[in-house]
Amino acid sequence: KRGSVSVRAEGGINPQIRKEEAKVVDSVVVTELEKPLTAYCRCWRSGTFPLCDGTHVKHNKATGDNVGPLLVKK
Ligand code: FES
Repeated sequence: KRGSVSVRAEGGINPQIRKEEAKVVDSVVVTELEKPLTAYCRCWRSGTFPLCDGTHVKHNKATGDNVGPLLVKK
């Protein structure tokens, strides 16, 4: 229950990404990926969202969380 308590206390999982949108949705056409491996953010703190920029490492160190990216392989 630790996670649900934390989310309520912070007012949601997304602190700042595209807050003007009713729902943040991204889609990827896998065959159009440029690189053989692309990392997508799941911590909602990346400066390059929806791509992972490594910010999850700082978040995990600061909070004890264990989030990481979704890796999509071409
Ligand atoms: Fe969010 Fe890496 S920056 S998962």
